[in-house]
Amino acid sequence: MTDAILLTPGPLTTSAETKAAMQSDWGSWDQAFNTLTASVCSDLLSIANASAEHVCVPLQGSGTFSVEAALGTLVPKKGKVLVPDNGSYCKRIVKILEYLGREVVVLAHAETEPANLTRIDEALRADPSITHVAQVHCETGTGILNPLAEIATLVASHGRRLIIDAMSSYAALPIDAKTLPFDGLIAASGKCLEGVPGMGLVLANRKSLEASVGNSHSLALDLCDQWQYMQKTGQWRYTPPTHVVAALRSAIDQYLRAGGAPARLARYQANCQALVSGMRAMGFKTLLPDTVQAPIIVTFHSPPDPAYDFGEFYRRIRDRGFIIYPGKLTTIDTFRIGCIGAIGPEVLVNAVSAVASVMREMGVTRFS
Ligand SMILES: Cc1ncc(COP(=O)(O)O)c(C=O)c1O
Repeated sequence: MTDAILLTPGPLTTSAETKAAMQSDWGSWDQAFNTLTASVCSDLLSIANASAEHVCVPLQGSGTFSVEAALGTLVPKKGKVLVPDNGSYCKRIVKILEYLGREVVVLAHAETEPANLTRIDEALRADPSITHVAQVHCETGTGILNPLAEIATLVASHGRRLIIDAMSSYAALPIDAKTLPFDGLIAASGKCLEGVPGMGLVLANRKSLEASVGNSHSLALDLCDQWQYMQKTGQWRYTPPTHVVAALRSAIDQYLRAGGAPARLARYQANCQALVSGMRAMGFKTLLPDTVQAPIIVTFHSPPDPAYDFGEFYRRIRDRGFIIYPGKLTTIDTFRIGCIGAIGPEVLVNAVSAVASVMREMGVTRFS
């Protein structure tokens, strides 16, 4: 059986070359593996132009482990974090901060509204005790793009520190540490780099990380300890995800060969355009206007036709070789289709054809 195409933003469809890179076993103490880790970390910094003031701390686990590690390590126990909230991953940050016992100020937005600079400015002016802002770049719950560069400049102008959840944007959307000040930026192996899932990473400002000794509530999630140990030994603390790191090395090689972030962004934009134009031609409506839509994942309104049922839609499109996501909104019925992974626009054109044939089979005729 051939693999289904994952139209989900991580895990996502990986190339044959990336899968092949997992054929070897690596010793976690072995110099060859240490060299592999060091080369991956060095490239992860370069991708965000962050080699001058930041260090890369890789961490075992899914992306959320690294979000929790970054917040728990970089925010002091007496810190206070402003979270502009326009979606489910922003809400996850709030939940993590509550678990960690860090003070949090939630700046609630509609899920279709990008993080608002004026409101962030007012919130920072109103409360000088806020030490950090935690900002999701692309809110994958809807696919909305937040104005990260402007937020970073604003936060720095207030003398506060910025922690960025760039899980679904890093390595595709522009992020340049030389012009965009941040204390921590969180990403993962299995998103726009098109590796396999299992490793997170934090690009941390070196001085802030050095000053973070003793902040973390957790041994396993203490980024400062992870980094210091790696500095001393070249090794990971605790068992590393060896095959994930090897796959990531290969995925980064392919990424650089193909032209890095500009080329990746261009391919994702072409994917997104093929998807959205095909779905709109059928009658589907996107949740977001094009002006705030990131080319990462698109949320569509479910057809209001009584013949439509997401579970049935999912099964039938799965039978045709495509895996999609349910929506993540609580009040509006939606579904989501991802544009990222080792796929080009022809795959999205085929996916749209598959949606059309499933809708015909199900007898769905009203799309909005
Ligand atoms: C913006 C964002 N933050 C955090 C996460 C959490 O990552 P994970 O599901 O790998 O724990 C994701 C996952 O898709 C994400 O898109």
